[in-house]
Amino acid sequence: MNAQTIVLTGAAGEIGRMLRTALARDGRTLRLVDVQDLPAAEADENVEIHQGSITDGAFMQDVCAGADAVIHMASLLDNHTWENYLEVNINGTRTVLEAARLSGVRRVVLASSHHAVGFHPKYEGASAPDYMYPRPDSFYGVTKVAGEALGSLYHDRYGLDVICLRIASYQPVPSDNRQLGHWLSPTDCLGLVEAALSAVDPGYRIVWGVSDNTRRWMSLDEAESIGYKSVDNAEDYAEEVLGNLDPTNVQNGHYGSHFLGGAFCIPDFDGTAAGFHPQH
Ligand SMILES: NC(=O)c1ccc[n+]([C@@H]2O[C@H](COP(=O)([O-])OP(=O)(O)OC[C@H]3O[C@@H](n4cnc5c(N)ncnc54)[C@H](O)[C@@H]3O)[C@@H](O)[C@H]2O)c1
Repeated sequence: MNAQTIVLTGAAGEIGRMLRTALARDGRTLRLVDVQDLPAAEADENVEIHQGSITDGAFMQDVCAGADAVIHMASLLDNHTWENYLEVNINGTRTVLEAARLSGVRRVVLASSHHAVGFHPKYEGASAPDYMYPRPDSFYGVTKVAGEALGSLYHDRYGLDVICLRIASYQPVPSDNRQLGHWLSPTDCLGLVEAALSAVDPGYRIVWGVSDNTRRWMSLDEAESIGYKSVDNAEDYAEEVLGNLDPTNVQNGHYGSHFLGGAFCIPDFDGTAAGFHPQH
């Protein structure tokens, strides 16, 4: 698929800011959506700014009109109330898919998360398979399961191509023990999104979003089947990371090395998480 006009939700966020720059191509128009201010940049001649909420159906339908694809990154991450998650992550994702359908957009790339399956333990000697069943580690993880389910419905009922990216840990560089396995580099994140945009007739897919790290716990089979080719490996940073391990960082201890969801799996995470921001 040759996506010429692409809607990018969550464009002011960490991944969105990278994609805003890296997805730019001659002949491609990016429609950036976020509730936050999206300052225009000089190089932005093929960029449209749409400030608003993904929960606003009329707004999203307007943004999606005539687009080829939607990359849906907008989300609340950790440390929010159930009511807010429900509104933004679940209702918002449904609103994005419905706007895509009503506007005739044929492809949606959805940001899911390893937290949709975070309570799966590490499988010694085997990668966590593609399509492993939901085992969310938090209310946030539940919303990502719901997003995958909505994507599945919009594929089966309306024929949209929907590719769900179970993103592991997106960071400029890996910074703790867990990320030596979980790291998704910016270059690989871009490569995965481009693969999801251009795959021929992908239908509905769930793919891991992780670099080809030596210590990776997750399968790359399904991601590679849509054309993803990782070029980065967290092992290049292992000596530095392991030489500077912070023993008080939960991600360096039992939870970080035992469960896919790492620190999100600590007891009562959703009940006591106020002010706690573990890295993904
Ligand atoms: N960063 C990671 O390591 C990681 C890991 C797994 C999954 N993900 C997923 O990837 C996506 C992007 O992550 P990120 O790290 O860039 O997150 P981020 O928090 O940096 O960005 C999210 C963006 O969504 C926007 N947003 C929130 N509510 C909105 C609304 N109602 N309408 C429009 N925009 C809204 C925010 O303003 C923000 O700019 C998210 O869906 C996240 O769940 C990220």
